[in-house]
Amino acid sequence: MELDRRARRPLRAQLEDGLREAVRSGRLRAGTRLPASRALAGDLAVSRRMVVDAYAQLLAEGYLVARAGAGTFVAEAAAAEPLPPADPPPRALAFDFFPGYPDLATFPRRAWLRAIRETLREAPDQALGYPDPRGAPELRRALAGHLRRVRGVVADPEAVIVCSGVAQGFALLGRALAGSRIAVEDPSLPVHREILAGGGAELVALPVDEHGARVQELRALAGAGEPIGAVVVTPAHQAPTGVALSSSRRAELLGWARETGAVIVEDDYDAEYRYDRPPLGALQGLAPERVLYMGTVSKTLGPALRLGWMVAPGHMRTEILRQKMLADHGSPTIDQLALARMLEGGAYDSHLRQARRRYQARRDALVAAVAAHLPGARVTGVAAGLAAIVRLGRPTDALGLLNAAREHGVGVYPLGYAYMEPRPWDDGLVLGYANLAEPAIDEGIRRLAVALAELPPGPAPT
Ligand SMILES: Cc1ncc(COP(=O)(O)O)c(C=O)c1O
Repeated sequence: MELDRRARRPLRAQLEDGLREAVRSGRLRAGTRLPASRALAGDLAVSRRMVVDAYAQLLAEGYLVARAGAGTFVAEAAAAEPLPPADPPPRALAFDFFPGYPDLATFPRRAWLRAIRETLREAPDQALGYPDPRGAPELRRALAGHLRRVRGVVADPEAVIVCSGVAQGFALLGRALAGSRIAVEDPSLPVHREILAGGGAELVALPVDEHGARVQELRALAGAGEPIGAVVVTPAHQAPTGVALSSSRRAELLGWARETGAVIVEDDYDAEYRYDRPPLGALQGLAPERVLYMGTVSKTLGPALRLGWMVAPGHMRTEILRQKMLADHGSPTIDQLALARMLEGGAYDSHLRQARRRYQARRDALVAAVAAHLPGARVTGVAAGLAAIVRLGRPTDALGLLNAAREHGVGVYPLGYAYMEPRPWDDGLVLGYANLAEPAIDEGIRRLAVALAELPPGPAPT
C-alpha cells in the first residue's frame, strides 16, 4: 500500500481507503490476518495510533473483525460476492422533448445550497426529530403567503399539507377517497390515474376539448352510476392538451360542486408560467371549501426534490393527514426548511422570473421550428407551461414515430398515449421545450421532420 504525502487527502483517510479497497477487490481475502498495527505503522512510516484508528474504523464498517488475542482479520461477509456492476445509464437522447422538465441545468444550486447551509446552521436540534405530518410550520406559513399572493389561493397554514410532489398528493387522495367515483380529465397523465386508482377509487373519464374539461358532462356521468365524489382538473393549463379552462366552464364546475357536494381537485402544476397574459387565479380562491388545491416545485426548481403541497378543505384534512402519517410520517424537514427560506427570502421568485423569460423564448423557438420544418403542423394550446402540443396534421403511427425519432436522437411523446383508451394513431405530440436550448429545439424539430418523412404513409388526414 502506498500513501501519497503530497495529496490533499489526509494520510489516515488514505490508509482507510487503501484497506477498504484491498478487501473489496479481493486482494485481501476473507480470513486473512492483517499485520499488527505496530508493524504496519513501521512499514508505512506513520504513527501506530493512525493504524489503530484506521483498523477501528474498518472494524466499525464490518470489513474487519478482531479476535481477542489472535489479531485483526478480514471479515468473511466483507469479502463475499463482489457487487454486480451498476447498470449502464440509459442512452441519453440529444434532443429529448420530455414534457415534465424545467431547465435542469439552471436549477438554482447556489441559492439551494445557501438555504440548506443556513437551515443546518440555525435549525434547533428539535427540528431533527420526526416531522409534523402536515409539514414544517415554517414552510406551511411561507406557502400560504406565497400562494395567496401569486395564485389567489385562500390558504391558512393550517390547511396546507406538504407532500412528496403532486404524485403523493394523488396517492393520499386516492386512499382518502377509496370506494368513491372520481372523474379525471381524458387525456391526462396515465401515471397519475394509476396512482389515484391504486388507492381504491373508481375513475371515470371526463373528455377535454379546446375549452378544457367538458364539465357539462359531469351530470350525465354522475347519472350513469354512483355519484361522483371528486373531479380532478388542471384548469390553468390542461395536462397534456395545453388548453385553459374557459371562464364559463370554471363557473359551471364550481356550481356543480356546490350543488352536489363533490370536491374539485385542482392540480395547479405549472401555473407559474403563462407567457401571453397574466394567468387566471386558482379556482380554489373562489370556493376554498369545495376545492382541494395541489402544487409542486417539480416545474419551478426540479422534480428531484419531491416537494409538493395540498391546500385541503376542512372536511378532508383529517383523513388526508392520517394517510400521510401512514405513508411516511411526514416529508423530510431539512428540505422543507430550505424551501421556506427560498420563498421568504425572495430567491424562489427571483429564480422564477428568469425561468419565465427563458421558457418563453424556448416556446417561441419551438413555434418557429415547427413552422420552418413541419409544414402542415401547428402548435396548439395556450402560451403557458413547459410543454406544447404539436398537431402534425394527419394521424400518425405513434410507436413508429417514437422509434424513428429515437434513431435520430430525438425523444417525442405521443398524445395518444395519454388517453384512457390509448390511441395508437393520433396527430398529436406532447413536446417539452424548457430543458432544451433554442438551437437544440430547432435541430430536434428538423430531425423529427426527417423521421416523419421516413415513416410509411398512414391513413389520409381526417
Ligand atoms: C399534470 C401534472 N401534475 C403534476 C405534475 C408534477 O408532479 P410531481 O409534483 O409529483 O412531480 C406533473 C409533472 O409532470 C404533471 O404533468
